[in-house]
Amino acid sequence: MKLSDFIRSNLECILQEWEDFASTLEPMADANKKELRDHAAAVLKVVATDLDTPQAEHESIAKSKGQGPQATDDTAAEIHAADRVASGFTGEQVMAEYRALRSSVLRLWARQAEIATAGDIQDMIRFNESIDQAQTESMARYAKMLREAQNLFLAILGHDVRTPLGAISMGAQVLLQDQTLPAKVLKVALRIFNSSKRMDAIVRDLLDFSTTHLGDGIPVDPHTVDLAEIGQGVVEEARTFHPDRRIDLMVEGDLTGAWDGARMSQAFSNLISNAVQHGWPEAPVKVALRGLPAEVIYEVRNKSDPISPAKLRTLFDPVKRFAIRPASERASARTQNLGLGLYVVKQIVAAHEGEVSVISNEYDGVVISARLPRVVPHRRNDD
Ligand SMILES: Nc1ncnc2c1ncn2[C@@H]1O[C@H](COP(=O)(O)OP(=O)(O)OP(=O)(O)O)[C@@H](O)[C@H]1O
Ligand SMILES: [Mg+2]
Repeated sequence: MKLSDFIRSNLECILQEWEDFASTLEPMADANKKELRDHAAAVLKVVATDLDTPQAEHESIAKSKGQGPQATDDTAAEIHAADRVASGFTGEQVMAEYRALRSSVLRLWARQAEIATAGDIQDMIRFNESIDQAQTESMARYAKMLREAQNLFLAILGHDVRTPLGAISMGAQVLLQDQTLPAKVLKVALRIFNSSKRMDAIVRDLLDFSTTHLGDGIPVDPHTVDLAEIGQGVVEEARTFHPDRRIDLMVEGDLTGAWDGARMSQAFSNLISNAVQHGWPEAPVKVALRGLPAEVIYEVRNKSDPISPAKLRTLFDPVKRFAIRPASERASARTQNLGLGLYVVKQIVAAHEGEVSVISNEYDGVVISARLPRVVPHRRNDD
């Protein structure tokens, strides 16, 4: 008997075996058994139809790698995964269900039919490929749903944290404007103001990271802006936050063009705060903005110990950098920065079709430059 015919005519008995196994998995108790059985039946029917469809060799290889043709509607396997997430199943449990489905079918088939011909073996290979495909679809959907939930969670957290943070910073600003207050109080108010601004920048970077690191990058909305003005604003803000540090700004050439002003300001601000935070405090931070005919270059340089080659390689990849930290350092990671600043800078610059480069050596210290091409005319979005 052909495997596809066997599946169709023994569907009930296969599903019973599978269900017996699935009910040993913890969250099954409160799951809706009928619906789950329907998904498994749908997956099996897709598999049976697949077995009856002639397939070229290359398709077979693609399928075993989980790269089969994509249906536009949700597949049975994707719907199954979504329901499993909702009933609290882990990824391992969803995988285990497919293992059970695979073994139920093959065991029952072997028991009832003699597997002897080359066609039977071919059927078995095709069956395994189909189950692989369904399993891959399920896992991809499962991971996507968890990722989306995580992003939503972070977005809400970020939103909720930024509101009280705004109130703290406003309160500090009110105090700072009150000249009748003693110098000691003003100093504390300045510290509160700077810290709340810093926290706000961290939360903003974290939100950008969580929404972009597996997606299409940071969305930008380019309008005609003057980067000289934006650069000046960011430097002045940094000088206010760090009155004890020297921050020089050099501006030359035409710096107007189509860029997203708010995002550029965020990128500049991340680079300058890095220079202040990680550079030697006694040396000045040198910021330069150059408008050339084809591009604009934004450069921040500061003295610092050279960045190690391992760190340089992962400078724009916070997750990898975190992973390669020695265990002792990782354990104390709470006290360190998350390291999202440069990642966000790179994303913003890349969204403008530009590039970020880093030089780090004994002589130059650290020089981080962003090159922004002048936007090509047809993409110009003048207001
Ligand atoms: N201007 C700089 N001078 C010296 N080291 C730098 C400089 N900029 C970045 N670094 C090094 O690169 C690392 C990554 O910088 P990044 O801005 O991505 O993260 P961070 O500053 O550690 O954390 P965050 O920006 O999220 O608060 C820093 O921890 C620091 O070691
Ligand atoms: Mg930083």
